Amino acid sequence: MLLSGWIFLIQSKPKHKDKHGHDGPNGKRGKPVMREKTRMKYADIIADIFFAETPDDDDDDDDRRNSDWILDLQDLNGQCNPNPCLNNGVCKEKGRRNYKCDCPKPFRGRKCDKGPKACRKGRCGRGECVLTSSPPFYECKCKQPFQPPDCKRVSLCERNPCKNGGQCIRDGNDFDCQCPKGFRGRFCRVGPADCYVNDGETYRGLVSETEDGFECLHWNSHFILEKGTDPFSSFEDKDGLGPHNFCRNPDGEPRPWCFFRRGRRLFWDYCNVTACPEPTNVVPTNFVTSNPPPTSATPSSTALPTATQVPTPTAKPSVAEAQQFLTCGSPQQRKAFTRIFGGLKVSPGGIPWQVSVQEKPKNSLKPYKHICGGVLISSCWVLTAAHCIDKNKDLQVIAGSLSLDKVEPSAQTIKVENAIAHENYRETPQAVFNDIALLRLKGNEGFCANETQLVKTACLPDVQFPDGMECTISGWGATESSDYGSNHMLEADVLLINQEKCSEPSIYGSVLDNSMFCAGYLQGGVDSCQGDSGGPLTCKPNSTSIVYGLVSWGDKCGAKNKPGVYTRVTEFLGWIKSKMQASP
Ligand code: ARG
Repeated sequence: MLLSGWIFLIQSKPKHKDKHGHDGPNGKRGKPVMREKTRMKYADIIADIFFAETPDDDDDDDDRRNSDWILDLQDLNGQCNPNPCLNNGVCKEKGRRNYKCDCPKPFRGRKCDKGPKACRKGRCGRGECVLTSSPPFYECKCKQPFQPPDCKRVSLCERNPCKNGGQCIRDGNDFDCQCPKGFRGRFCRVGPADCYVNDGETYRGLVSETEDGFECLHWNSHFILEKGTDPFSSFEDKDGLGPHNFCRNPDGEPRPWCFFRRGRRLFWDYCNVTACPEPTNVVPTNFVTSNPPPTSATPSSTALPTATQVPTPTAKPSVAEAQQFLTCGSPQQRKAFTRIFGGLKVSPGGIPWQVSVQEKPKNSLKPYKHICGGVLISSCWVLTAAHCIDKNKDLQVIAGSLSLDKVEPSAQTIKVENAIAHENYRETPQAVFNDIALLRLKGNEGFCANETQLVKTACLPDVQFPDGMECTISGWGATESSDYGSNHMLEADVLLINQEKCSEPSIYGSVLDNSMFCAGYLQGGVDSCQGDSGGPLTCKPNSTSIVYGLVSWGDKCGAKNKPGVYTRVTEFLGWIKSKMQASP
């Protein structure tokens, strides 16, 4: 997937580079490389485009460039639907083709995407601007070795930045903290008892780095607000949040996490935090003083489901099993939203109908490999793309897993009994037609996949959705930073593009037929990509997710005027029904 240049499906987890711009030793699959390599050094800070000085007054131009291409390039109907205003802005239609956002304080900008002026560009030199509640309403958090108040002056080890008795050692333009035994982190802030229990909801420790060594943004960072997310109003459990950059888990993730930034892009990832040793009723020490430690370690209500066993083919389905998959299109309820911005790593249960379709040479002992995505539409049926099917291969699907490189306890691996490609599936150098297939899973009496918090079905559509509607794509496909795909399932939002518009000569011309439609952004950026095929494009007209498209093809990924092309599921409802009825 590429979002903003990745989704190729969604904002991908970045591939890590070392100081010299080469991939890290494990770079291909995005495995963490050594922390030393990713932490910001003086040279990286200087090279960071985020700190490039630009005149203040181009702020709003930027804004126009970033958001108005939708209006310019697509034929949208109602401008306020979907609501283009961020940060709870209220949308008012202005004529037939325009809208205005009424922004709640302190937001502004055409889409309420600009935070308070207090943090204008360049204000904090080589540092992050965070918002405060008293004048002057901002504070600069400098990147060491740049110094307060405006992060423009450098000082190495003059005032020892290392905590807990750490020793500051100069190294050219840089410094390192040598920590006393038991302490860690860039500034030796993290003590030996700094750990989290259960899902880390109660974690109040001092780790402020992601698993891959990126420095966390402050929760009150202007940059996060600017991207349309206010952590203080978006999460249900804000107790642990504050004007700091320590990892927290305010939204039911499996463990503490934080936002981080690369260039002008916002990401999030899990943190480099240690789980407390069992038994878990030890109160971790080394807390931030303003956040009193929890008094007990209560089990989290959001813990992941434990291993689910796929029934053996001989087992008769029980009454409980027969009650499964009664509703489609409802993902696992999250504590709060987890859709944070553009496209991101999917959180557990976020897209429970997405499966990985995997193949190996027929009857061989070779391992199965991910080739495509697929969509669970009932316990025993998966929709995918016809071009994913090779009759000389054995197929299996994995449901309930976010990660492809480790076997998660929630994963259900189910063999494919029969792969049915559409009879009129056809591929030419220009396009792929009728690109749809059904996989009949191996199971017993209509029971194959087991419904869990992480495995659910998507609904089939019964109506067409309007151009301009925002829908979701997901998968493990290639990202802008990795041709090999992402290890973690990614998701992104794309817009349905008017068919006539997409058939213009500068886009796909006359090759499109009714078996397909375009979705994405004509300006490029967010798109699906190699490895995402067969996966879902779901739209949510109300609270239910409906599989409206399947990732099919596109000219490159994320390129301007070359949006993703998706199989139009509404064209195949009769076909789907007839195949499913023929082998119930
Ligand atoms: N054919 C690709 C696959 O097999 C999907 C390509 C989608 N391309 C795009 N630009 N959206 O995974």
